[in-house]
Amino acid sequence: MRRRSLQILMAGVAVIAAVALLPSAVRGQSARTLRSPHDFAGIRDPAARSAALFVEAGKVLQHPRCLNCHPAGDRPSQGTGYPHQPPVQRGADGLGVTTMRCTTCHQAANFDPGRVPGSPKWHLAPASMAWQKRSLAEICAQVKEPARNGGHSLAEIVEHMSRDPLVGWAWNPGAGREPAPGTQAAFGALIKAWVDSGAACPAR
Ligand code: HEC
Ligand code: HEC
Repeated sequence: MRRRSLQILMAGVAVIAAVALLPSAVRGQSARTLRSPHDFAGIRDPAARSAALFVEAGKVLQHPRCLNCHPAGDRPSQGTGYPHQPPVQRGADGLGVTTMRCTTCHQAANFDPGRVPGSPKWHLAPASMAWQKRSLAEICAQVKEPARNGGHSLAEIVEHMSRDPLVGWAWNPGAGREPAPGTQAAFGALIKAWVDSGAACPAR
């Protein structure tokens, strides 16, 4: 009798595990890759196509590797998005306050033995570029608006996303960190196609 209820219990656990694991495995796969602009050619309406391209690029924009440096406050986050330890602050120039400068710990390259990520000029994105806890529609509006994107044209945004070393770090984030999906080149191609099709924003 005992053994039988144990069997039923184990079967139940197996079913729950399968239900819980299967969708995340499927989701995980598509979330790790980026579709190419070509895959969106079938969407006739340019605004709908443009918004769909941005949603695909959003897999990168809303990945922790980007969000941790574009946080919702004055403190970077780390890992999957929990607050940075030690509790450093952005400071006047985004490079930290006097006693806790980012570059004291973050060097020009990753230092894997200490798990410290690095890239030249490691610092925090300005508060106007905070993306954490924002919807993709909000991020889209921010990225487009010169008053909030550092005074950049859309062409400069394409250039920044395609070539900037801090952006590029997200695909070479050092030991123990999940890279952003796809490649920086594939991401840059999506952003360029988004701009070329009118830079429309998704509804949410
Ligand atoms: C006292 C050393 C120290 C200082 C100062 C410091 N950091 Fe860090 N930071 C670390 C370490 C160590 C990690 C890695 C933590 C881990 O992943 O285990 C880290 C991780 C991060 C990450 C997470 C990267 C990711 O996606 O996982 C970001 C973003 C970051 N730091 C930004 C900053 C910024 C911006 C500053 C300056 C305002 C700063 N840090 C100052 C030590 C420091
Ligand atoms: C180490 C911190 C850091 C990481 C990681 C990071 N950014 Fe940034 N980002 C910045 C800073 C700082 C700025 C402000 C511009 C500057 O000073 O270079 C910025 C600005 C931007 C801008 C504004 C446009 C512009 O031309 O200034 C975009 C777009 C951007 N980042 C995209 C990304 C994307 C996409 C990722 C992830 C793939 C990412 N960033 C990861 C720090 C970071």
